Amino acid sequence: MSPVLAAHDVTVTFGHGGRARTVLHSVGLDLDRGRTLGLVGESGSGKSTLARAMIGLTRPRSGRILLDGEDVTALRGRRLTGLRRRVQLIPQDPYGSLNPRMTVGEAVAEAIEPRRGGLRRHGDAVARWLETVALDASAATRYPHEFSGGQRQRIAIARALAVEPEVVIADEVTSALDCSVQAEVLNLLVDLRARLGLTMLFISHDLAVVRHVSDEVAVMRHGRIVERSARDELFERPRHPYTRLLLDSVPDAVRPPAAT
Ligand SMILES: Nc1ncnc2c1ncn2[C@@H]1O[C@H](COP(=O)(O)OP(=O)(O)O)[C@@H](O)[C@H]1O
Ligand SMILES: [Mg+2]
Repeated sequence: MSPVLAAHDVTVTFGHGGRARTVLHSVGLDLDRGRTLGLVGESGSGKSTLARAMIGLTRPRSGRILLDGEDVTALRGRRLTGLRRRVQLIPQDPYGSLNPRMTVGEAVAEAIEPRRGGLRRHGDAVARWLETVALDASAATRYPHEFSGGQRQRIAIARALAVEPEVVIADEVTSALDCSVQAEVLNLLVDLRARLGLTMLFISHDLAVVRHVSDEVAVMRHGRIVERSARDELFERPRHPYTRLLLDSVPDAVRPPAAT
C-alpha cells in the first residue's frame, strides 16, 4: 500500500553561510493510510521541524514531501492551500493558535470555510464538531480564555478535524496538560482517529503517551530517524542503542498508562 504522506530524503537547514545549521538530515518517513505513527525523540531533535516540513510550512533544502505520491514540496498559492486542508496540524499550544478575539464558534467555522459569516452558514456543523470533542454547543459563543487548557486543546482538535483532513499531525498535543487531562485528550484522539479513519503522525517526547496511541513508532535523534518498529516491538525489543537509552530513562513507558 502506498503511503498517504511521505517525506523522502528531507534535509532542512536554518540560517546561511557560516551560521547554517542542518536540523534534519535526509529524513525519510512514510505515513500509511489509517494508521498512527508515533514519533519520539528528545527536545531539539527535529520533530517539530519535520512536522512543519510535512505540512508545507518549512521548505526543505533538499528532498521531497509526497502527498498521495504527488510532490508537494514546491506548491504555491491555491494548491498549497489545498495541501494545507488535506493535512492538518494540531499544535502544542492551542492558546497561541486560537485568535483571542474570535469566539470558539467563529474559529471552528473559519476552519470549515475561511470566509466571513461562516458561523451563520455552518452553525449546525460547528455544533456537531464541538459535540464530537465533548464540548457543549454553547461553547460556540464563548472566547478561548474562558476555557481550561484541556478544553482549549479540544477546541484545537475540533478546528483541525472540521477541515476534514486525511492526515492529522499532532505535535506534543498533551505536553502542556495535567496528567488526568492528558489521558482524556489522548482517549478522545484515539476514538476520533478510529471513527474518522484518520492517518496520524503523533509526535511526543513522552514515550508512555506515544505507546498509548501508536501502531508503529519512529525514533528521532539529532535530525535522523534511527529506528522504526511496530509499537510493541519497539518497546519490548528496541534495536537501536539510542532507543534503549530512551526507554531506560523512563522505565514506566514500558507499561501502558493506567487510564485506558
Ligand atoms: N525557525 C528556526 N530557525 C532556526 N532554528 C530552528 C528553527 N526551528 C527550529 N530550530 C532549531 O532546530 C532544532 C530542532 O528543533 P525542533 O524541530 O523544534 O525540535 P523538537 O520538536 O524535536 O523539540 C532545534 O535546535 C531548534 O533550535
Ligand atoms: Mg517540538
